[in-house]
Amino acid sequence: MRHQHSRRAVLGGAAGAGTLAGLTALAPQAAAAQAQGARAGRFAGKVVLVTGGTSGIGEATARAFAAAGAKVAFCGRRRQLGREVERSIRAAGGEATYTHADVRESRSVWGFVDGAVRRYGGLDIAFNNAGIQYSARLHDTTLEQWDDLSNTNARGVFLAMKYQIPHMLKAGRGHIIVNSSVGAVVGRPDLSLYQASKQAVQALVKSAALEYGADGIRVNAILPGITDTPMIRPAGLDDATWEQAKAALGQLNVDGLKTVASADQIAQAVLAMAADEFGYLTGALIPVDGGVAAGRRMLLPQL
Ligand SMILES: NC(=O)c1ccc[n+]([C@@H]2O[C@H](COP(=O)([O-])OP(=O)(O)OC[C@H]3O[C@@H](n4cnc5c(N)ncnc54)[C@H](OP(=O)(O)O)[C@@H]3O)[C@@H](O)[C@H]2O)c1
Repeated sequence: MRHQHSRRAVLGGAAGAGTLAGLTALAPQAAAAQAQGARAGRFAGKVVLVTGGTSGIGEATARAFAAAGAKVAFCGRRRQLGREVERSIRAAGGEATYTHADVRESRSVWGFVDGAVRRYGGLDIAFNNAGIQYSARLHDTTLEQWDDLSNTNARGVFLAMKYQIPHMLKAGRGHIIVNSSVGAVVGRPDLSLYQASKQAVQALVKSAALEYGADGIRVNAILPGITDTPMIRPAGLDDATWEQAKAALGQLNVDGLKTVASADQIAQAVLAMAADEFGYLTGALIPVDGGVAAGRRMLLPQL
């Protein structure tokens, strides 16, 4: 399915300003306690960067980290969505900052990373998630599509790592989690560019894990399976039709759990990987895919 920039309403976005106003109206001590409460979670005090946090998995992950107490800096190109996500995270008592940045552009990525580190005073965890998908037969794919997809999915991850790692080296610690895809380990007709870009970032992850392990920096990849986000939902489909299509997608393509993942399920898996309990994890490519990578069923012909 073709990547589209869905502009679905962001839940809670409209409520944001009102709740913030409510917070400032509280007595200073109560407001501080409320803010502190939100930051008392599993990732309290941690600084987390998310590329591509304006929708889908990145948005869900930014929200989840903020709800767990982290200070979250996220980027994306769609300014309005970015501001809405930022507002609604803050309205829920979390800390988040949206920056307009394009992961294909070196200066833009540098500005996002550097600005976030200056604002929040460090960098503990980076979720390099921004990505796009084109679906086309290989010989019909244009050079422009190849460049756009590789520049977003592979160069974008390289640039993010390039500018994140020096901050982590300085601190002597850090954790980078790259959003790959189960598409990197299985072939799919009409998705050769996408699968190739995801294979490329997995090579970056494994080599960087070896390069920076002794510096206290861990590098891992999550490989989500089919996930309900604007990336896979055809534009203009009503909710009921999409629910039906999603159920069929799961039944036909997810051999294990038979259902498509929600963005929240993938976000929670990212948080689990980032948690201290997984402190010995590096160079790992972890499928969170409902069983897709475990293999295809063998279908027997009618005899
Ligand atoms: N959905 C799935 O089934 C699935 C499965 C496996 C892996 N993944 C991976 O998950 C990641 C997130 O995708 P999603 O499914 O959550 O789709 P999505 O809702 O379309 O999210 C993609 C995110 O990437 C951002 N992005 C795209 N190009 C960018 C650029 N040049 N600069 C900055 N940000 C950019 C988008 O923001 P802007 O448009 O605002 O820039 C958006 O926030 C991708 O890497 C995708 O390959 C998805």
